[in-house]
Order: sequence, then structure tokens, then C-alpha cells
Amino acid sequence: MAQYSAEISRRRTFAIISHPDAGKTTLTEKLLLFGGAIHVAGAVKSNKIKKTATSDWMEIEKQRGISVATSVMAFDYADHKINILDTPGHQDFAEDTFRTLTAVDSVIIVIDIAKGVEAQTRKLMEVCRMRKTPVIVFVNKMDRDGKDPFDLLDEIEEELHIKVRPLSWPIDMGQRFRGVYNIYEQKLNLYTPSKQYVTENVEFKDINSPELENYIDPSQAAKLREDVEMIEGVYPAFDVDTYLAGDIAPVFFGSALNNFGVKELLDCFINIAPSPRPVQALERKVDPYEDNFTGFVFKIHANMDPNHRSCIAFVKICSGRFERNANYKHVRFGKMMRFSSPTAFMAQKKEVVDEAFAGDIVGLPDTGNFKIGDTLTAGEDLHFKGLPSFSPEMFKYIENADPMKAKQLNKGIEQLMDEGVAQLFVNQFNGRKIIGTVGQLQFEVIQYRLLHEYGAQCKWEPISLYKACWIESDNQQALDNFKRRKQQYMALDKEGRDVYLADSSYVLMMAQQDFPDIKFHFTSEF
Ligand code: G4P
Repeated sequence: MAQYSAEISRRRTFAIISHPDAGKTTLTEKLLLFGGAIHVAGAVKSNKIKKTATSDWMEIEKQRGISVATSVMAFDYADHKINILDTPGHQDFAEDTFRTLTAVDSVIIVIDIAKGVEAQTRKLMEVCRMRKTPVIVFVNKMDRDGKDPFDLLDEIEEELHIKVRPLSWPIDMGQRFRGVYNIYEQKLNLYTPSKQYVTENVEFKDINSPELENYIDPSQAAKLREDVEMIEGVYPAFDVDTYLAGDIAPVFFGSALNNFGVKELLDCFINIAPSPRPVQALERKVDPYEDNFTGFVFKIHANMDPNHRSCIAFVKICSGRFERNANYKHVRFGKMMRFSSPTAFMAQKKEVVDEAFAGDIVGLPDTGNFKIGDTLTAGEDLHFKGLPSFSPEMFKYIENADPMKAKQLNKGIEQLMDEGVAQLFVNQFNGRKIIGTVGQLQFEVIQYRLLHEYGAQCKWEPISLYKACWIESDNQQALDNFKRRKQQYMALDKEGRDVYLADSSYVLMMAQQDFPDIKFHFTSEF
């Protein structure tokens, strides 16, 4: 048995994802309250604002009233160590969220009962499906009127392409919301609007018992019985393994704002959600219970202080135990490094830690040694996979606006790309640099940071592109032929891989038809 198995198996590392405004922040905050990590509601939000205010380059985001700070919040709850990885809500930073999803073992998706499945949720779920990440759905805002719960479940199945299984069921909604029947625990959780939390928690194994009417209105009781009968008839019995395989998503209902249904969600979560799972490296699969430490960088957070170019590299520990001041191999550099002040994140506080275990995230202060995807090990040459870049959606030429500062500009672009702020493609025909992003905001962030951190000025020039596709072929001749024919549209990404820049969906479709030997990929890992 591995040395650290007790520590590792009690860890639950996950992210909460949602379309903006569905209630991710509110739910996170309530979970932290249960863990005793914070003591007053509102702390997470006010912290968000404070963080933004202390950082210069985040001024842009502050003005727009959004936060791009992604952090880790950890707390202990019922003998478990919970690590919540926060993800930026703004869709322009979706790439950041995609990468964070590579560092979690499971996900909670928050859906607004009134709005249903929204665009951002759909996209994030695609990434979960690709990685077979187990998903729990929390349907939020039951204190408001919204869609019929059965319709919503159908919508989730259809839009998110995942089977669902309700583990709790709402008793009415909006003004008439009376609580939920917790199918998983066979309990009745009652809600009184004025009290705004679970006012009564009644063990209730048989909802056909006439006692139900002692708690809720007869019409609501009749409806609940009918609904639960329908659920048992229509949905398969809940099976943890199917959930762990990413094939079925248990669904809970509640109201994060009113702290209703949150504890029930958390209690079920720690029971069924996976402890750290094996991670695939290029060379082999790494088991979390191996004694030796391994980990990878999934996020780099620029320092708030623009005068000192230092960052924090966020490392997900994939196996074993990480120790402060031990020697670890930076595989890309092939050299050993020591980290004297690794930080962990207990709720809001960042503190230096002496050790951390598989499942945990440690922050390593860095002055430019790391880039996204880097692997650290106890000595083995391993390369973790699974940090794909997705085809950006917006493209612009980046040009130097101050000829005296060309060097600074190039260095700035390189480092910002290593940090994963956006993607760089160099057109092989004319040598021009193209930056690809998920949203307009990133162009502004890049321009601002180049100026404030590197003293370089850039300007943007338009380029009309539809998609960047990574291409490959088993047929070298066909590949060479394609590259020759499309030479004006061929670029290299940061790793030197061939990328075809398609300027319209039509052109891409024609290329796919005309060059059947070429495989076109919309992510950099295939
Ligand atoms: P996000 O992180 O997913 O973007 O959402 P966030 O938690 O910030 O919640 C978005 C809005 O929805 C907030 O209102 C929040 O108070 C509200 N909300 C969250 N959960 C519930 C719920 O269960 N019921 C109801 N009725 N509302 C909920 P806001 O007005 O935008 O912000 P605030 O001024 O209340 O902080």
C-alpha cells in the first residue's frame, strides 16, 4: 500500500462551472461557509473586488465589473480535504477555464432554473465530455419561478449530451417553493422563505405515507408522489460507477443564495465524487498513489505588481507527496530545481506549505521558468498530456508600434503566450505574427500588459480568419502537397506544429473535401 494513501484518498478536487450569473460564486461561498473556511457571507465577492483593486493590469477587468482571478480554495469538511478550483466567469477567458478543467477530478455544473442550459455551459461540458470528467448538476434559484423540472432535465440531456438522474426533487418553485425531497438520503428538506435555509430536515423513507401531508400542502404532496413515481419509472437507479465514468450526471435542486440544498449537495458530493484519479502522461499512466511526486503546471498567474516580473505557477500534484525544498526535475529543462516557498490556498489565505499531496494544487513563485503544460517529477522523464489548445475564435495581426522596443515586444509576447493568455501563430508565408483569442477582452489585456510590464507598444491589425486547424497526415507527400498549395495560409504554433488558417467555413469545408488524406483538428492535441 502506498505511503500516503490515507491523505490522497480523502481529497476531492473539483471546479464549479456555469454560465455567468447562474450562481457559481454564491454556491462557492456557501460551500466555504460549511467548511468553516469563511465566516460571513459576502466574503468571496468582496475578496474578488479587493484582489482586483490591488492589481494594476486588472484595472481593465475591474472597469468591466468582472474578475479574471482564478484561484484555489481549500478546506476540510467531514474528514475530507476539498479543493475548489475557481474559474473565471467571463467567456473571454474560457481557455483558462478549459485548462483548469484538466486539473480537476470532477465538476459541479450550476444551472439557473429559469434560464436553463446556456451557451457557456454547453462549451464547458464539451471539455468535460472529452475528458470523461464526472459531473454533478445543481439546479439553482428554486426560490424563483422557472422551467418545469422535467423539461429542464430533458433540456440538459439534449443540450449537454449526458444522461441525468435526479437525486433530489423540488416541491414547487418560486413563491410556492416548499423544499426538496432528497431522494439520495430519503429525507424531506423543508424551506420557509422568511428563514431562508433548510428549516426542517425530516427522515422520510416512504413518501406515500399520509404523514407527508403534515409537512406540506396536500396538493403539493400529491404532485411530489406523482413526480417521484415518474422519476423512478423513467430514470435508471443511481449507480456511482456510471457517474464516475462520466456517463450519468446526478442532479440536485436548491437555492445557493438561501443556502438551501447546499449542504445536501456537499454531503453527497464527498461520498460519490472521485478522489484523485490516474493521469495520463505521454510515457505511461501515473497513479496518484505512487510514492514519487509528479505534477504539471496548468495555470500561470501574473503577479499583481508590474514592477517585478514574477508569477505564480499553479501545479496540480498528480502523484505522491510534494515537499518544500526537495529537489524536483523540471523535465523540459532537464534540470533539478528546489522550491523554498511553495504556497497552498486555504480558503482566502495563501500560505507557505511544507508538504502537499496528490490532488492538491501548490503555487510556485516563478520568474519565467515555467510555461503551461510543464511537468515536474522526482527525477523521471515524464510529460503529462491533456492541456490542449483550442482553435481561437478571434484573430489579429500584432505589430510593433515602437521600433525602439522590438526586443521588449518579442519577449513580452513570448512570456504572455507561455502564460497561456492567448495563442501565437507565425504565418510561414510572410512571417507576420497572429494572435488568436477567445474574446475581444484578451487583446486589450495583452496590449495593456505589454505596455505596463514590458514597456512595449503594440498595435492590432485586422485579419479575417475563421479557424486555426492543426493538421497531420500519414501520407507525407500529401501533407507536403497541402502545405505547398495553401502556403499563404500555413502557420506554425508556439510549439512549431503545422497550423492551417482557414478564412471561412466554406474554404475549410472545401479543403477537407479536396484533401482527404489530411486530418484537420480543432484542438492541438489529438
Ligand atoms: P456567477 O458567479 O455564476 O456569475 O453568479 P453569482 O453567484 O454572482 O450570482 C449571480 C446573481 O444571482 C447574484 O445576484 C446572486 O445573488 C443571485 N443568486 C445566486 N443564487 C441565487 C438563488 O438561489 N436565488 C436567487 N433568487 N438568486 C440567486 P446579483 O444581484 O447579480 O448580485 P448581488 O448583488 O446579489 O451580489
